[in-house]
Amino acid sequence: MDKSRFELRKFVAPEFIIGEKARLLAGRYAKNLGARHALVVTGPNVYKAGWVHGITGNLEDEGIRYTLFDGVSPNPRDHEVMKGAELFKQSGCDSIVVVGGGSPIDCAKGIGIVFSNGKNILEFEGVDNVQIPPPPMICIPTTAGTGADVSQFAIINDTKRKVKIAIISKKIVPDIALVDPEPLTTLSPELTAHTGMDAVTHSVEAYVSNASSPVTDIHALESIQLLNAYLPEAVSHPKKIEWRYKTMLGSLFAGLAFSNASLGAVHALAHSLGGLSDLPHGECNALLLEHVMAFNYDSCPARYETVGRALGVETEGLKRDEKKKHILAAVAVMRENLGITVTLGDLGVTRADLPNLAATAIRDPCLATNPRKATVHDLEKIYERAL
Ligand SMILES: [Fe+2]
Repeated sequence: MDKSRFELRKFVAPEFIIGEKARLLAGRYAKNLGARHALVVTGPNVYKAGWVHGITGNLEDEGIRYTLFDGVSPNPRDHEVMKGAELFKQSGCDSIVVVGGGSPIDCAKGIGIVFSNGKNILEFEGVDNVQIPPPPMICIPTTAGTGADVSQFAIINDTKRKVKIAIISKKIVPDIALVDPEPLTTLSPELTAHTGMDAVTHSVEAYVSNASSPVTDIHALESIQLLNAYLPEAVSHPKKIEWRYKTMLGSLFAGLAFSNASLGAVHALAHSLGGLSDLPHGECNALLLEHVMAFNYDSCPARYETVGRALGVETEGLKRDEKKKHILAAVAVMRENLGITVTLGDLGVTRADLPNLAATAIRDPCLATNPRKATVHDLEKIYERAL
C-alpha cells in the first residue's frame, strides 16, 4: 500500500444544485444571499443564445436589480476584469451572478477579487494571495467543461506579458453553482468537443496529480467514464437533454476533482499557448493530453492503467509497454471521434514559438502537481510532438 494515500487532504466544494432548470433558481438563491443589486456577468454568445434573459427576469421577480456586463472574451483579459470591477462599484452592486463558460466565470471571480481588495487583478497571481473574500457569487455554467463553477481557480490573461496567470484561493470558490444541462443544448459540436476534452483533461490530471486523494479519485474516475460514454452522444445529438445532463455531471465531477487535487503539465502547457496565441483552452488540452500522458506514464503506470479502464481499455495480461500503447491510443481515438483532428502546427504554432512557450509553461503553478518533474527542454519536446 502506498503510504502517501493516507496523507492529510482537504476537500472544498460549494453548495450546488444540478438538474433541469436549476438556472431559474438564481433569484431565490440571490435573495437568500442578501443580494439587492447583482452584476450579471456573461459573454456575447451566451447572451445571444438567450440564456441570460430568463435568469435576469428571475432576479427581477425576486425584487433584485441587475446591471449587465457582457464584455468578456474567451481567455478573459486583465483589462476586462478591471472594467467589470469598475462597473460593479459605479453601479452599486453587492453580488455577482455569472452565466457562461470558463471565461465569464473566471472574469467574474476576478471582478469580485478586485472589488473587495482594491488592487490590480495581476497582483493576486499564485496560491492564497486573496486577502478579503469577494462579494457573494452565483455561478451558472453554460459549458460542460470548465469546472470553474465549483473550483478555487481563476485563469486571467496578462495582456502585457501575453501569459495567463493562475489565481488559486479557497476564497474564490463560488457561493452557489446552479448546474443546468439546458443551456448546453445550444452549444456547437465543436465547442462541445473542446470543452468536453477540457473536462476529461481535468480528471486525468487530477487522478495522476501528486495531490490526489481517495475523495478526488472517485470523482475523477466517474467523470472519465461519463465523458467517454456520453460526449460523442452530445456531439451527435446536441438537443438531447439526457446526454447533455451526463456530460454536465462529468464536468461537475471533474471540477470537484481538479479543484482539490490540482492539475498538471497539460494545463501548464495549455495556459502558455492560450496566453501567447489566444487559442481555445479545451482544444489546446485535447491536442496535448496524449503527449503529456506518454511523458508521465512511467512515473505512475498503475494510475494510468486505471484511467485506461475508465476509458474502457482492457489491458489485463499485457506487458507495460503494450498497455501504455493501448491507453494512449484510446485517448487519441476519443479526441478524433469528437472531430478534433488538427495539430498545434495547423493552428499556427511554429517551432520558433516553442522556447518561449516552454519558458512560460515551466513557471505555471499547475506543474507543481504533475507526477513527473519536467524541465524546460522536456516541455519543448512535448510541444514538438503535438505540432
Ligand atoms: Fe481546463
